[in-house]
Amino acid sequence: MSALLRTDGVTKSFGGVQALSGATIEVDEGTVAGLIGPNGSGKTTLFNVITGYGRADAGEVYFGDRAITNAAPDRVFALGIGRTFQLTRIFARLTVLENMLVATQHKGRPRNLLARTSRGHWVQQRRRAMDLLEFVGIAGHAGVGAGTLSYGQRKLLELAYVLVADPAVILLDEPAGGVNPSLINHISDRIRELNKSGKTFLIVEHNMEFVMGLCSRITVLDSGSATASGPPDIIRTDKRVLDAYLGEDVEDDDDIPG
Ligand SMILES: Nc1ncnc2c1ncn2[C@@H]1O[C@H](COP(=O)(O)OP(=O)(O)O)[C@@H](O)[C@H]1O
Ligand SMILES: [Mg+2]
Repeated sequence: MSALLRTDGVTKSFGGVQALSGATIEVDEGTVAGLIGPNGSGKTTLFNVITGYGRADAGEVYFGDRAITNAAPDRVFALGIGRTFQLTRIFARLTVLENMLVATQHKGRPRNLLARTSRGHWVQQRRRAMDLLEFVGIAGHAGVGAGTLSYGQRKLLELAYVLVADPAVILLDEPAGGVNPSLINHISDRIRELNKSGKTFLIVEHNMEFVMGLCSRITVLDSGSATASGPPDIIRTDKRVLDAYLGEDVEDDDDIPG
């Protein structure tokens, strides 16, 4: 298997805070990979660097063979790397369906603008938006204001939003965080199904049951660098991992503080 997404020695500081110090991770094509680590270990910063929302001070990001280090967010997205945010970014004043239609506008390139005004195209976009809402399980809420959705439903809307562009790789930042347990199972089912249809995932998540059940390979980030990487069974017993989590029983702890 080859790495579809790879970071090599990525370093990033905010003033005196070293958020990333030589972070090297690999995500193999067609897999669901996990990224875990204590709060403040640099997980979101690494997502930001990969997706162009933050600049690397040093190091490289590769998408396949191509170096995409410090490419702008829209370019990274256009190349096929989609992401969700730890704090969801939806348009609360628009309806759920309108949010999806915004995504279809984003996806189009400027030269498609004329084509997009045709009625046939509009109907097609609307149908695709509804299909994706159906897929994530919130089609019944299409007409309501997105601001009225529960936290878990917002996460599902964000996932549907990302799927509009049909990215090859999807980065999810804490998809289960703050979501009720039945919805968490639903979210992992959807990820599994998308993975079966060929999508590659990199998932940041504190819920160990979720991560261990979903990911074939997990990388542990500690103080901005990857300290361990391997299959869930190895990671859950790795001494460095247990140390990073202050000796807590990783298996029984769904929501690791710190
Ligand atoms: N925009 C920012 N400005 C200043 N410091 C930041 C910023 N973003 C992240 N940090 C710091 O970088 C470190 C890593 O943060 P983050 O990547 O959010 O960690 P994680 O997602 O693993 O919890 C933390 O010390 C955090 O306070
Ligand atoms: Mg984070």
